[in-house]
Amino acid sequence: MSRVKIFKPVEEKARQAAPAPPTDAAAFHAVVDSRRSVRIYADDPIPEEVIDACLDAALKAPNSSNLQTWEIHHVTDAKKKAALVEACLSQPAAGTAPELFVFVGRPDLWKRNNGWMIEAFDRAGNVPKGAYQYYRKITPLVYDQGVLGWRTPFKWAITRWRGMSKPIPREPIGKWGMRIWAHKSTALACAQFMLAMRAHGFDTCPMEGMDSARVKRLLGLPRQALVTMVISAGKRAEGGVYGPRFRFDADHFIHRH
Ligand SMILES: Cc1cc2nc3c(=O)[nH]c(=O)nc-3n(C[C@H](O)[C@H](O)[C@H](O)COP(=O)(O)O)c2cc1C
Repeated sequence: MSRVKIFKPVEEKARQAAPAPPTDAAAFHAVVDSRRSVRIYADDPIPEEVIDACLDAALKAPNSSNLQTWEIHHVTDAKKKAALVEACLSQPAAGTAPELFVFVGRPDLWKRNNGWMIEAFDRAGNVPKGAYQYYRKITPLVYDQGVLGWRTPFKWAITRWRGMSKPIPREPIGKWGMRIWAHKSTALACAQFMLAMRAHGFDTCPMEGMDSARVKRLLGLPRQALVTMVISAGKRAEGGVYGPRFRFDADHFIHRH
């Protein structure tokens, strides 16, 4: 592993001014509180501009190294949609939904997107050296697992050894690590999409109760692609939410140190 510093502060002159505009916390919490997983939808269609706005919101989700290793497949073809419903085990949340989206993680595409990032920097010009360095040196170091994962045992051993004396980023390691890595960012896009739908007055249901191999075949996806979730969307029908929201006591999950 090289001695490149991973998170160097950007020189002051290169920092962008990004003012924090005022926001509406009450509106945000109203969206969060009214989002429910909907299992039965009404027939109301979702306007195309709403779908576009929500897809756009999904792609603004925070994501690891901004490599955007995700895809969203909006399935509209009637035959494919029927097959997708079947692959979702014919759940009512899929079968009654006017729209179906498949959120896919693409850890296999990190290198392509890394190249796109460098090209975008070239086009933009005036990009700080540190940013170039991050995508030229750091990301290959962190995400390249080598052909057939040959780097994995070395990464694991070096990480363990170096990590004994100082803090180091330990993940992702190996093919499975890369899968988790891509799922994390794609899941954030899922959450952002579902909240955006709610903000527009529509509803969603995330589904992992599906046959991912069949979903991938249906969409023509390669072996390395990961189906993070299928998300159905539409307007909730009366009785479409199965019960009041229930969560365990927050004290179980929130730990203050
Ligand atoms: C990763 C994931 C997978 C899920 N899979 C399904 C599913 O296959 N079918 C379903 O009806 N609901 C599914 N759900 C919805 C959960 O059951 C639901 O989020 C949970 O019961 C909490 O309810 P709420 O979303 O209304 O707050 C899934 C949720 C997540 C996050």
